[in-house]
Amino acid sequence: MSMIKLKIEDIGKGSLVLVNKRFDVKTTAEELVPFNESFKNITLSSKANRALHLLLDGIGAGKLIVPVSGYRSFEEQAEIYNTSLNENGSEYTKKYVAIPGASEHQTGLAIDLALNEGEIDFICPRFPRIGICEKFRKAALDYGFIERYKEEKKTITKISGEEWHFRYVGFPHSKIIEERGFCLEEYIEYLKDFVYPDKPLKSFGYAVYYIPLSGDETKIEAEGSFTVSGNNADGFILTVKESGI
Ligand code: DAL
Ligand code: ZN
Repeated sequence: MSMIKLKIEDIGKGSLVLVNKRFDVKTTAEELVPFNESFKNITLSSKANRALHLLLDGIGAGKLIVPVSGYRSFEEQAEIYNTSLNENGSEYTKKYVAIPGASEHQTGLAIDLALNEGEIDFICPRFPRIGICEKFRKAALDYGFIERYKEEKKTITKISGEEWHFRYVGFPHSKIIEERGFCLEEYIEYLKDFVYPDKPLKSFGYAVYYIPLSGDETKIEAEGSFTVSGNNADGFILTVKESGI
């Protein structure tokens, strides 16, 4: 059994951080690595990049799918936002570009992808619901990725449908989110019913707990194979692999 001490600032770290207009990015992205040798300028958090390549290899994507945008600094997001305001106007920009500080691209856990065909639009790349892109979308859930912005959730996410934007949240969260028809905002809220240590959400061979922030240091105990992530709002999520599975 290990004792884990979680500090207030840890709330903004981990695969399950919720980043949006309400909850801005609180920490700098960690362990950024290039997508690959051909796309050195596109970086991602190492765990997201590892899962992404397993996924692309798993579906035999080869060069059919290309990365368009991964990690962005605050300054890069501001540049994209301002350029889009000038070129596309305010209505379009608000639909498809998060305000600087509120983009999950700043976490290194989000990736925009395109079908590799001729000219690629940087803000709204084509990633259609057919062929290799749809194969990717379906398989993504097994590798910890979700399609983050669905059109039907735009009143909650405040971003319009983005078929090309995938967010690493880790397994089993990707599967639970899809199975229950949530967007990330809804999932983070839903998890608050499953308070550590007595009431886990058991799903896909894992036990998932919400740990409310308590003072300067939140202490928990866990054993076996587990991960802890901040939710970037008011607590942490502990994910424990159930033994014997
Ligand atoms: N396109 C997404 C919303 C971003 O700018 O972070
Ligand atoms: Zn994106």
